[in-house]
Amino acid sequence: MRTENKHIRMLNPVRTFVSNLDDTGLMCGYRCCMEHDQALISMQRLMLRYPTGKTALSGVTLDILQGQFVYLVGESGAGKSSLLRMFYGGVRPTSGILNVQNTDMRTASEVRVRELRRHTGIIFQDHRLLNSRTVFENVALPLRVHGWKTKRLIPRVRKVLAYVGLADRLWSYPEALSGGEQQRVAIARAMTSNPPVILADEPTGNLDIDTARRVLDYLMILNRHGTTVIMATHDLHLLDSHPGRVVQLHAGTLSSHETNNAPA
Ligand SMILES: Nc1ncnc2c1ncn2[C@@H]1O[C@H](COP(=O)(O)OP(=O)(O)O)[C@@H](O)[C@H]1O
Ligand SMILES: [Mg+2]
Repeated sequence: MRTENKHIRMLNPVRTFVSNLDDTGLMCGYRCCMEHDQALISMQRLMLRYPTGKTALSGVTLDILQGQFVYLVGESGAGKSSLLRMFYGGVRPTSGILNVQNTDMRTASEVRVRELRRHTGIIFQDHRLLNSRTVFENVALPLRVHGWKTKRLIPRVRKVLAYVGLADRLWSYPEALSGGEQQRVAIARAMTSNPPVILADEPTGNLDIDTARRVLDYLMILNRHGTTVIMATHDLHLLDSHPGRVVQLHAGTLSSHETNNAPA
């Protein structure tokens, strides 16, 4: 179901060859064919109730189109993290419809959910780095899952870590890093395999303003080349410099007012 879509401008071309098109030199390979107005994620009367009895989301009807840059905003407890969690199958809907990349998330098998996650970059609010692995190995993990051999992935991991300002921390363990540095490792890990969709839960929460802007810059570059980005955030000031579709949640429901401050 589409409601507000006629007001939403697509931020990226339909099909893009993304080999070194960006000035970071980080992007590589073909991004599959993307069609305008195709819903990547589709929700109808979506409801989530946790086993505790808490209803985190109710009556959410929304389409997120391929290639959009979407900010999820709303007060703490509004349901932003819960919604992102449902998008990668971390929790299943209690009722209503949720389709993610043509998968019915009410009935999807665990195998299908794992497959979806392989094609999703996830930046968790609490990082979720592997403390027994080096920074390098944490960031290399998505590439290893995709079958990249060590020799091939080394330059890629170095480049991504250099981009987030951690070129000198490759062989450190996460516990030796500050909270902000750990967050940047988590961001690098989500970016490293250039996935078609990135889900980011408060990714700039622990970062200084310059680093936060830089992270947003890169997410925007990825978006311009076709990556759908969905980001929960409190940092509303970033929206002035980094425009996108703004979806507002309040106490588990969608605010009827939606804005889009994307440039023409
Ligand atoms: N695992 C959980 N079990 C029970 N309640 C939860 C769980 N996670 C979140 N909640 C509750 O669901 C509501 C929405 O939380 P959340 O999605 O984390 O909001 P936000 O990310 O917007 O701060 C809150 O009332 C929160 O306490
Ligand atoms: Mg949250």
